[in-house]
Amino acid sequence: MCGIVGYVGNRDCSEVLVSALRKLEYRGYDSAGIAVFESGKINIKKAQGRLDDLEDKMKYEGKPCGNVGIGHTRWATHGVPSEINSHPHRGGDKVTIVHNGIIENYKELKEMLIKNGRTFVSETDTEVVAQLLDFNYDGDPVGALRKTLSQVEGSFALGVLFADREGEIYAVRRESPLIVGVAEGESFIASDVPAIIQYTKKYYLLEHDEIAHLTSDGVSFCDLNGKHISKELKVADWSQDAAEKGGYDHYMIKEIHEQPTSVKTTVTPRISDGMPSLDECGITVDYLKKVKQIHIVACGTAMHAGMVGKYIIEKLAKVPVIVDIASEFRYREPLIHKDDLVIIISQSGETADSLAAMRLAKSMGAKTLAIVNAKGSSIAREADMLIYTHAGPEIAVASTKAYMVQISVMYLLCFELAFAKGYITDGECCRLTDALCEIPALIDDTIDTTNDLCHEIAEKLIDADSLLYIGRGLDYALSMEGSLKLKEISYIHSEAYAAGELKHGTISLITEGMPVIAVATQTSLYDKTVSNIKEVKARGAMVILVCDEKAEVGADVADHIIRVPKTLEMLMPMTAIVPLQLLAYYTSVLRGNDVDKPRNLAKSVTVE
Ligand code: G6P
Repeated sequence: MCGIVGYVGNRDCSEVLVSALRKLEYRGYDSAGIAVFESGKINIKKAQGRLDDLEDKMKYEGKPCGNVGIGHTRWATHGVPSEINSHPHRGGDKVTIVHNGIIENYKELKEMLIKNGRTFVSETDTEVVAQLLDFNYDGDPVGALRKTLSQVEGSFALGVLFADREGEIYAVRRESPLIVGVAEGESFIASDVPAIIQYTKKYYLLEHDEIAHLTSDGVSFCDLNGKHISKELKVADWSQDAAEKGGYDHYMIKEIHEQPTSVKTTVTPRISDGMPSLDECGITVDYLKKVKQIHIVACGTAMHAGMVGKYIIEKLAKVPVIVDIASEFRYREPLIHKDDLVIIISQSGETADSLAAMRLAKSMGAKTLAIVNAKGSSIAREADMLIYTHAGPEIAVASTKAYMVQISVMYLLCFELAFAKGYITDGECCRLTDALCEIPALIDDTIDTTNDLCHEIAEKLIDADSLLYIGRGLDYALSMEGSLKLKEISYIHSEAYAAGELKHGTISLITEGMPVIAVATQTSLYDKTVSNIKEVKARGAMVILVCDEKAEVGADVADHIIRVPKTLEMLMPMTAIVPLQLLAYYTSVLRGNDVDKPRNLAKSVTVE
């Protein structure tokens, strides 16, 4: 998704903007640009492609020289990735903007502006906002923003330069995230905290329809009527190191290695006297006793974490769980009752569909629980109850450590729920919780023991046209995540299938040498999965089996075996996911792909 930055101060603005945009690269983008005040004029440089392409262009053409400006990485929605469609966009002589989000009524507004003599150079919805703002501007920035915001529909965060106000930036948001950073003699805007953390840890969260005014002397906030607003200053608890690669080749592999710590930091503070304790998050045993049905709503990897939640909660706590893709949930008229708990899982806390799904659930009277990694994000702020995962910043687009902490929280919640419902005693609950606390060490072992093997096996996957992931029960939930990881970053087609369902159609795809990754960590289902593996093996598949270290594997079952440390059957996803992440990672590396920034994908999907 698009990334926005802005800077006012004494530094070389072009440099600040590009380095801040680099920290937002994880959001995914296909072009980049900056606009900087230079001797009273606004100098814009943009390029299709990566920030390196923009920097190359500026080396050749000269970079804008000045201390005030805005920058943008674009993830195309309206109009192809191209230099013309890249931001910043001018709206005439008076206004230059960067935008993240989608303007839903841009066609009507464009027609109105064309009737008023305006001409457009790009295909974007953003240029429509720029033109409209310019059209409405008569020297009063707040008045022009107010009028413009009353005309546009959709989601947006905007950074705005008014040509006659050198030394100032205006910013406003509705739905899309935006923060305002402050330091001595300088201020910043950004879509996310990592962009500014190299300069300052202090920031404000801009709320819906609030306007920020930035100068080198400081920042002020007002509402759309120009009424001053005082806001709480926040201090980021992320170190700069946490947002950088720290010696690893890619963020993704760094983040895979951070999983043990992330799980520890997420789980440990939620244990009291050996029992899960989520009271501080607003979840009490008394409340859990009343929960009759759970909906888990999320997108992508977070939805797969929800699938793990479904299997374990239904098994241990006997509460029915419906898992929904947020974009389906919000439009399928779901049956939600007052005693239902709706859990929204989101790393970014800004995913547009997940946010809308949560609002829908609230409007239907259900209690909402958000499991979110990004502090202060929209989903975190609007949920009735909140469990923060403590994965730290996740930069690679392909999620690894965020998934791991999401499933850790699923376990905590499941244990507490099963106890509240009387299906396990406090002793059993403590034993399960103890086993969860041992997981970080087991994840570490898994990384150590499977890393090189996954690298070797990846060499056998790189030329595949397509592959299958199969498993039963929790192994099927894991297969979905393993398959998503692989296709996201290797660009090889893959599908996850419930192993027992293969023979109802998909087995016809198996040809000689086709890789099939079989996940069989659930002891109770092991023999059944092995039968399915044999069915594909008999048809020529190259089988890569992920099983526990003690599993007895017959000689004719698999071509390659990846063994992971054994723990409770129910907790096996926490070790077994690691080789699936590593297989995807090395396949992507060996294919020469941009591992952390896969094509077409965005880290935080703030548009529908
Ligand atoms: C995007 C990302 C995925 C992520 C999904 C949900 O598609 O590329 O990695 O799982 O959004 O994001 P969220 O921030 O809500 O977890």
